[in-house]
Amino acid sequence: MTVESAATAAYIVAALLFILSLAGLSKHETARSGVVFGIAGMTIALGATIIAAIDGAEALGIVLLLVAVAIGGAIGLWRARIVEMTGMPELIALLHSFVGLAAVLVGWNGYLEHGSFPSQSLEDIHNAEVFIGVFIGAVTFTGSIVANLKLSAKISSAPLVLPGKNLLNLGALGLFVVLTVWFVISPALWLLILVTIVALALGWHLVASIGGGDMPVVVSMLNSYSGWAAAAAGFLLNNDLLIVTGALVGSSGAYLSYIMCKAMNRSFISVIAGGFGIEAKGGDDTEYGEHREITAQDTAELLTNASSVIITPGYGMAVAQAQYPVADLTKKLRERGVEVRFGIHPVAGRLPGHMNVLLAEAKVPYDIVLEMDEINDDFASTSVVLVIGANDTVNPAASEDPSSPIAGMPVLHVWEAENVIVFKRSMAAGYAGVQNPLFFRDNTQMLFGDAKDRVEDILRAL
Ligand code: TAP
Repeated sequence: MTVESAATAAYIVAALLFILSLAGLSKHETARSGVVFGIAGMTIALGATIIAAIDGAEALGIVLLLVAVAIGGAIGLWRARIVEMTGMPELIALLHSFVGLAAVLVGWNGYLEHGSFPSQSLEDIHNAEVFIGVFIGAVTFTGSIVANLKLSAKISSAPLVLPGKNLLNLGALGLFVVLTVWFVISPALWLLILVTIVALALGWHLVASIGGGDMPVVVSMLNSYSGWAAAAAGFLLNNDLLIVTGALVGSSGAYLSYIMCKAMNRSFISVIAGGFGIEAKGGDDTEYGEHREITAQDTAELLTNASSVIITPGYGMAVAQAQYPVADLTKKLRERGVEVRFGIHPVAGRLPGHMNVLLAEAKVPYDIVLEMDEINDDFASTSVVLVIGANDTVNPAASEDPSSPIAGMPVLHVWEAENVIVFKRSMAAGYAGVQNPLFFRDNTQMLFGDAKDRVEDILRAL
């Protein structure tokens, strides 16, 4: 058996493992085995690719390849080991940018260095692949960098609203189509340079135009783009596995984006078109009045007298790592006969399933952790709601103020409860940068400070 046919066989096994991995990751009971399948598939794919590349290569090429794999692997291992769970989305965005950059480099290489073609039509197809691959890769590259900067709060998460922004996006797409036809008919370096610049600018603009509240969809959308960029590179490199894997990532990312758009009541087309149809909103200068504060001691008293409690955690619980004292509080209250349940918003925190993972880590029983739709009707009959580090996901403006930037996003109706206690450190806005009128409601009291410290104070008082 030649090395090439052995590599092809290994690629088929790897592709099957990737499909099993996706299937496993779709349920939390099988997620662990999904990850194992993914690692096994990637190990086989990488091993087969390296062996196929080494076969017949010069010594210097082999050394360069192994050094590059060692450096890349070491950096990846180091980053993955030190990343906090709250920093995961920005790391994922950064990794997507590498896929985009790789697709651009593969495309450029495909133009600058290729053998002769047996027919004109094959050359035309090759040129179209180069052009499309560079375009998708460059959009993914800059789009992912902006996503990384927004998610790590290095730039504002507010949407960039340039005049005629939709026309700019449509114009860039139209130009890409025209340039592709031109390039296929008469390939020239300047056309490739031009499309790279247009795509870099388009990627930047598409993601910069999307507001903070829609960032979860952007991350999964860029995941999809990076898959298509990888598939485009696969066509150029004649690598079937890259095409299959790219298509798997591209389509599953697109489907995830669609599901998230549905959960957040957003139009899929509007989000992938860079906030298409979303116009600039004026600053929020509404006067909300005064907020009230409460102490941990008084909160403990309120909880002791409560018959039912719902806890709605958010990003702040992850920052404070308050899930362990929250789990202790839950246990203590349940022992005293108080009904305690959790209400989880689909985009609470910074990752799909972020809160579920934290609560599972702290051994909170699954059966009292409910999704937003399962619990939203129960707030009205609840004595106390503890909002622990959540903000946008409990903002009544989303359902009551049509001019709010997060208008239409489904939220947890915490304000319908008898008492609402909000744990946070200040009156600062949430991720979407929108003020929360909940904090000024008559039945709301603020418990300021780090969420972990405050929950521990309540535990002591109990
Ligand atoms: P956010 O709106 O992000 O608000 C978190 C709140 O936690 C802040 O108001 C902050 O207020 C408070 N906080 C931070 N550190 C704290 C600490 N140590 N102790 C106590 N409070 C602390 O939270 P959310 O309701 O979970 O909403 C998530 C947001 O992220 C949504 O806008 C969502 O669209 C976006 N997003 C989600 C995802 C996914 S997939 N889940 C991905 C990207 C973006 P202080 O600073 O005053 O303490």
